Amino acid sequence: MRKKICFVAAARPNFMKIAPIYNEILKFPKEFQAILVHTGQHYDKNMSDTFFDQLNIPKPNISLGLGSGTHAQQTARTMIAFETVLNEKKPDLVVVVGDVNATLACSITAKKLHIPVAHIESGLRSFDQMMPEEINRLVTDKISDFLYTPSEDADQQLLKEGTPKENIIFVGNVMIDTLKTFKPKAAATKYFKKLGLTKQQYITLTLHRPSNVDDKVVFKDILTALKEISGHFTIICPIHPRTKKQIKEFKLDAYVNMDGIKKNKINLIEPIGYFEMMNLVMNSRLVLTDSGGLQEETTVLKVPCITLRENTERPITITQGSNHLVGTSSKKICDTFYKVSRKPQSESQIPKYWDGNTAKRIVKDLIKQSKAGRF
Ligand code: UD1
Repeated sequence: MRKKICFVAAARPNFMKIAPIYNEILKFPKEFQAILVHTGQHYDKNMSDTFFDQLNIPKPNISLGLGSGTHAQQTARTMIAFETVLNEKKPDLVVVVGDVNATLACSITAKKLHIPVAHIESGLRSFDQMMPEEINRLVTDKISDFLYTPSEDADQQLLKEGTPKENIIFVGNVMIDTLKTFKPKAAATKYFKKLGLTKQQYITLTLHRPSNVDDKVVFKDILTALKEISGHFTIICPIHPRTKKQIKEFKLDAYVNMDGIKKNKINLIEPIGYFEMMNLVMNSRLVLTDSGGLQEETTVLKVPCITLRENTERPITITQGSNHLVGTSSKKICDTFYKVSRKPQSESQIPKYWDGNTAKRIVKDLIKQSKAGRF
């Protein structure tokens, strides 16, 4: 019998994960009918539509248009709206990705209607419950039926937490499927050149974690380090809406330049598409970030990455990849920058199954689980 699968996409980092799985599922029309739901947590064109266009994700079947809000507002609104979708569409399985609020909201809603849930990117833990994403990961993994993991350390973590072994499926990193598919297109944009930047003579920066930008002391300490670093390499930063708001709120405008690209400055530009972002990253001297995805993408692109966080749920990017976890003190950031920037090329390895075939492995497994009557 043909099974109905409902995919949930909500915020920017979800789109790179949904694209390869959704497009792979569409290759099996006899086995599966796919429904794509966009909750609308991210809604600006350059935070959402641009990614659908560039990554060839078909238009969502259902757009909930839920928008921003506090955590409780986002989660509650998503649950109410998603419950209606599930009651109407009656899918056999719900697929959620990553660790955003919709991942949590939609998995709880589905489970309470007795609909099985598959979680893509299971088993990642920062062990820091001050991070909203950690709570989303813990709850989603606890109630999911199929836990697709990006690395074997995630399997070990899930086993430690008492997850039944048969529910854990190591498939690799699905975001790397997107990176491999679109790397040539990203390279062809020559975006860094369009900005007047020189290969390896600039640094790409992203910063959006509430723990970094919602606290003025922490944010200022990071900016102090970035200012020193920009004296050596021009910094370019596609600015997240949250960070833009906080710069205004804390009156930190003097640290940054928002008026074109200037040498030896922290230059803020509007959020950019996936191709443009990957182009900036692959030609950078190094990347400074607090993003989860960029720690993984830099590992595969072999670009050194300095992560401006106290912990990471992706330790494999440090043990095998090009990532350095430094925290947020300006001294530590600068010390690591001086050490890392001297070496132009990162000596990272690529973790197992970060090979561009993860979506194939997931869909193959879904066919197996469906035939076994597990959904
Ligand atoms: C969310 C995710 C985070 C992910 C990040 C990527 C949760 C808990 N957090 O955080 O894991 O790393 O997305 O970007 O789900 N805004 C806009 N336009 C948009 C989207 C947001 O202006 O298209 C503004 C809104 O004012 C909003 C703020 O940005 O209040 C933050 O957005 P929100 O989705 O709440 O959290 P993120 O910080 O983006």
